[in-house]
Amino acid sequence: MAGLKLTNVAKSYGDVSVLKDINLDIDAGELIVFVGPSGCGKSTLLRMIAGLEKITGGELQIDGQVVNDVPPAQRGIAMVFQSYALYPHMTVRDNMAFALKLAKMSKAEIDTAVNKAADILQLTPYLDRLPKALSGGQRQRVAIGRCIVRDPKVFLFDEPLSNLDAALRVATRLEIAQLKESMPDRTMIYVTHDQVEAMTLASRIVVLANKGISQVGTPLELYEKPQNEFVAQFIGSPAMNLFPGEIVETGEHTKVRLDGGHGIVQSAYPSKAGDMGARVNVGIRPEDLQLTDETVESYSGKVDVQENLGEVTLLFFVPDSEGMEPVIAKLPGIHRGLKGQTLNLAAAPEKVHVFLDGISLLYR
Ligand SMILES: Nc1ncnc2c1ncn2[C@@H]1O[C@H](COP(=O)(O)OP(=O)(O)OP(=O)(O)O)[C@@H](O)[C@H]1O
Ligand SMILES: [Mg+2]
Repeated sequence: MAGLKLTNVAKSYGDVSVLKDINLDIDAGELIVFVGPSGCGKSTLLRMIAGLEKITGGELQIDGQVVNDVPPAQRGIAMVFQSYALYPHMTVRDNMAFALKLAKMSKAEIDTAVNKAADILQLTPYLDRLPKALSGGQRQRVAIGRCIVRDPKVFLFDEPLSNLDAALRVATRLEIAQLKESMPDRTMIYVTHDQVEAMTLASRIVVLANKGISQVGTPLELYEKPQNEFVAQFIGSPAMNLFPGEIVETGEHTKVRLDGGHGIVQSAYPSKAGDMGARVNVGIRPEDLQLTDETVESYSGKVDVQENLGEVTLLFFVPDSEGMEPVIAKLPGIHRGLKGQTLNLAAAPEKVHVFLDGISLLYR
């Protein structure tokens, strides 16, 4: 069992700061997912945990021990990379056994470890094949197998599925979920760009942005109660709509008059008397908007583009001014002929987020 503790961890390359003030406790057995925009430092953080990249500030503990200066091989960690780089001239069995041979384990021990890993990953029929005779998904499983045989306390995955096609991604994602279930006491840290992978695999998601952690929480915490506009718009697809407006009623519930003459919306989020008149952004997810006959307490807009996906209909509304993002509504089922119509939309108060200076009213 190994938990990790990051205290004020920082990384800079020369004068260029890439990450700072990273504070994070990861419990043993968790599957933590790092997400964030390209270049925000996800791989760098993972490589620092692996010991492949020097930590330039703060402290990293694994299993209660400070490991800042412990070499990678002694950290009890194994890492799966995006490009899985198997040895092309070695069979699947030899690829998986390689690290164990280097560690001078006995043939019997190596066979046991490789056979067990192959069994978990359903690679047994392929053990004597060369990598070129495998599909992309099978190769990726061999790469994971190379980690499993070493029986690490912590697994690190850096976008392990990004080279796979869509169908294979779904299948391999399920395999990783099952792999985690079969090893409940192993800790996994997983980097991905893929929303669905993050939402489905994670015990908790860490959203990285602006050199630091923007929010940490379970997938549904981040979806239902984002702390700030960045997380609100990063988690969920299409992204949460943001409507600029002004607070016109404060208290346990808050009312905001939307700019552009769209009407008033009510939020279940509380505000203080001093917030009266404050400029805010109201956040409503596309799937939380519903058509309504209500004309005062609603957003009113003209449908610019309609996309019929069968299970849902996406409506894109004409923006109030050029350059603004269009408001998007995601209605369940099929709706015909809405393009060009002016419609009123509303959301249940508990689905109406309010951000003051970019921070949700729930988190003040
Ligand atoms: N050796 C280096 N020298 C200077 N800057 C670097 C070096 N390696 C990475 N960086 C910078 O550190 C930042 C974080 O890079 P990193 O690879 O961790 O991002 P990432 O979040 O994994 O991005 P992606 O999603 O594109 O994989 C980037 O701005 C990158 O340019
Ligand atoms: Mg990366």
